[in-house]
Parts: sequence; structure tokens; C-alpha cells
Amino acid sequence: MNGILPFMKQKRIIAGNWKLYPDSPEEARAILLAVRKATEKNKHIQSIVCVPFLYTRDAVRIAVGRKRFSIGAQNCAIEDRGAYTGEISAVQLSYSGVSYVIVGHSERRAMGETDDVVNKKVQAVLRSGLKVILCIGEKERDDHGHYLAFVERQITSALHGVGAPDLSRIIVAYEPVWAIGKPSREAMAPHQLHEMTIFVRKIISQQYGTKLAFTIPILYGGSVGPDNAASFFEAGVDGLLIGRASADAQAIVSIIESL
Ligand code: PGA
Repeated sequence: MNGILPFMKQKRIIAGNWKLYPDSPEEARAILLAVRKATEKNKHIQSIVCVPFLYTRDAVRIAVGRKRFSIGAQNCAIEDRGAYTGEISAVQLSYSGVSYVIVGHSERRAMGETDDVVNKKVQAVLRSGLKVILCIGEKERDDHGHYLAFVERQITSALHGVGAPDLSRIIVAYEPVWAIGKPSREAMAPHQLHEMTIFVRKIISQQYGTKLAFTIPILYGGSVGPDNAASFFEAGVDGLLIGRASADAQAIVSIIESL
């Protein structure tokens, strides 16, 4: 050893939220193989692909044995088991081999998920041994800072009853709703995002202390594409939660290559 450490890029989490895409298992497989290959090539990237329930088994098979490539689901039931037609529990997901579950995505909140439901889902995922990608974010901006109080309430209620040891299984994804699903020029500006990463860590540190607040990964989500992905890292985030572009093999590979 000559005492000089090789230059190492900082670890970056790239989580994809496929939403209701793609139509066929063949397309799903092609995207997963492309992400796996790009992740293997770029050693500082940890990728997580959150697929529709139906694709979890195939996806897990593609990810098995890979350290920096894992699979997640996009939702789960509040309960572990019972008479809940059409639901899928975090326990069942844990047996399917996924590692993460997205909880509290704004599109689910828009379907009626309250802060209380989000908290129950967080607890269900933690009970099952899986990890949570907790989505938070204001619907709109105002000049009086109400959006800060809104985000604070989302964080504190989602984490209600979560003990410090479980915080290591939580990733926070800050996704301002007004910036989701837009052309990439309408994504959040890095300086605005910087303010929010500081704010999110402050809220978490009030509850869990500064040390833990600095270990929790914070992702940004909202209109991330190949042309703007790298810019968000100037704002102190640890990674990105990518919707639309993550279900397009070419776009997600370009994003990974750009980081
Ligand atoms: P988008 O979605 O990247 O398509 O804006 C982000 C998300 O909803 O997680």
C-alpha cells in the first residue's frame, strides 16, 4: 500500500418507480437487464427498481445475487393478512424476494391515502423486515412557508412510532408534487432542493438526533431525466427516485451513465 487511496465516486442511489408500466413481461425484462448492466459498470451506483406487483418474481430472479441492484414494490396493504380482497401484504412481498416498498407516493395519496394510512404502511413494511422508500412532498408552493409545515407534518406522522433502530431501513424520497411528470425543465431547481434537504434532515434530527439524521438517505424525485439528473446532486441528495424515465431502458441507462 502506498497510502494513496484511489479516487472513488460517492455512492448514489437510483430508484426507479415504474408506476403502471410497461405492458408486457418481455419489456420489463429488457429494462431490468439494461439497468443491471449499467449498474454493474458504474460501481458507485446502487439501483432499486420498483416494479408492478405482477413483475416482482421475474424481476427478483434477474437481481438475485447482485449487491447493488435490488427490486422493490410500489405499495402494500396496511394489514399483514385478513379479508382484504385485492390487497398484497408486506409479508407476502418479503417472501417474493423484493427488498424495498415505496410508501406514501403522491399518486397513492391522491387516491385517498391519508398520513395515518401512510404511517400504518410504514409500520407494516418494517414489521415484514423490508425497507421503506417513504415519499413526501408538498402539492404546491406558497410565499408564507406553509409548504414547510406540510412536509414537516408528513414526515412526523409517517414516522410516528418508528424507533431509532428502524430508521436504518428508511429512505426518504422528497418529491414535490408540482414537479412530478413534467418536462425536465420544470423540475425543481437545485437551490430550492438544497433548502429542502436541509429542512428534511432538521425535522428528522429533532426526532432522532443529528447523527441519525445525517445517515438517512434522501432522494429527489420529480421530472428527472438524462439531461438534469446530475444537477440534483449539487443539492446534497443521496439519490433520485425516477418515474417515467425509469421505465424507458435508454433513458434510465443514460441517467446512470451521466452520474
Ligand atoms: P417522474 O415521476 O420522474 O415521472 O416525474 C417521479 C415519481 O412519481 O416518483
